[in-house]
Amino acid sequence: MSEVKQDKTKQGSVQTTGHAWDGDIQEFNNPLPRWWLWGFYATTLFAVLYWVFYPAWPVGDSYTKGVFNNITYKVGGKEVTTHWNTRALLMKDLQEGEEAVKQRKYMSGLMAASYEKIVSDPKMMQFTRSVGKILFEDNCAACHGMGGAGVAGLFPNLVDDDWLWGGSLKTIQATIESGRRGYMPGFKKTFNDAQMNDVVEYVMSLSGKQVDEDMAKRGGVLFNGQGGGCYYCHTSKGTGMASVGSANLTDSIWTVAKVSSQKTPETKRKVIRDVISSGISREMPMWKARLSEAEIKVLTVYVHELGGGK
Ligand code: HEC
Ligand code: HEC
Repeated sequence: MSEVKQDKTKQGSVQTTGHAWDGDIQEFNNPLPRWWLWGFYATTLFAVLYWVFYPAWPVGDSYTKGVFNNITYKVGGKEVTTHWNTRALLMKDLQEGEEAVKQRKYMSGLMAASYEKIVSDPKMMQFTRSVGKILFEDNCAACHGMGGAGVAGLFPNLVDDDWLWGGSLKTIQATIESGRRGYMPGFKKTFNDAQMNDVVEYVMSLSGKQVDEDMAKRGGVLFNGQGGGCYYCHTSKGTGMASVGSANLTDSIWTVAKVSSQKTPETKRKVIRDVISSGISREMPMWKARLSEAEIKVLTVYVHELGGGK
């Protein structure tokens, strides 16, 4: 490397640094473009201002907080004012944002309104449907399914207009608030095989299936007499009682016995026999402690409408 004289004529008017390698390789000395330089100064200035105004640098186990101290939101009922930060901004928005305020207004409107008023007000219903859907998916869908169709044998279908405990708004609210326990004893030890077959035949006949008349007749005596005592809970017509949540056996809608998915009369008989033989014990949990009054009200209207709204 040796110093050479700057040669402006050979390379045009571009300045070189005055260094040359391998004899004639020279280095241009172009100034930084003006736009680039100003951009550089501007971003530097921006960064410095940002450090001053907003939370930026770690200091010990804390950090510089910036100069804005203007976000107020509520924590456990108390107002807190903090320096600007996106977390506080989100909290404030959740509490006071346009959507939150609108939702709170609707919720308190719902709390004040009677069920009759809610059901007949299209705006309230629209709100109930959208909030109810979210509440249902968060709390109920794990058992009753996303759309509320249930799981045969385990969790009842809430979409049909057939209810164990009653489908009025009042009874649905009571179901959600306090839970329900569906219980039927097993009859394995009560009946011998022939008696069991007779009772199954009678249950089949209640929903209009083709049956052996003699067997069904004997089964009916057991159903409606001391032998079986089924009528205590299912009534002598077999239509069920909302007060004990006993299923209506006359309507071809099955909630525990998986009759509908069976192809042949033999397998239908078998699933009915299994249920009568082992009994039923299943529980709908109570939600009083876990959901607010307003949320239960929304869910009541939502579930009521799922079942046809009658
Ligand atoms: C852990 C599972 C589970 C969850 C979660 C659950 N349920 Fe239930 N629910 C059941 C069972 C089981 C029954 C049937 C009780 C019986 O046998 O009578 C039931 C019954 C019902 C009934 C009565 C149906 C009828 O025919 O009378 C309604 C209404 C209902 N649930 C609504 C809800 C709502 C609303 C939620 C969400 C807040 C919910 N359930 C969450 C298990 C559940
Ligand atoms: C102590 C009351 C009680 C007695 C007694 C009783 N049941 Fe039930 N039974 C119920 C209840 C409650 C249900 C619904 C349980 C549930 O949904 O969780 C039910 C459900 C059923 C089902 C299933 C229906 C379905 O939709 O899947 C059949 C079948 C049935 N009972 C038949 C009988 C027969 C037959 C007898 C008499 C031998 C009888 N039950 C006696 C309370 C009773």
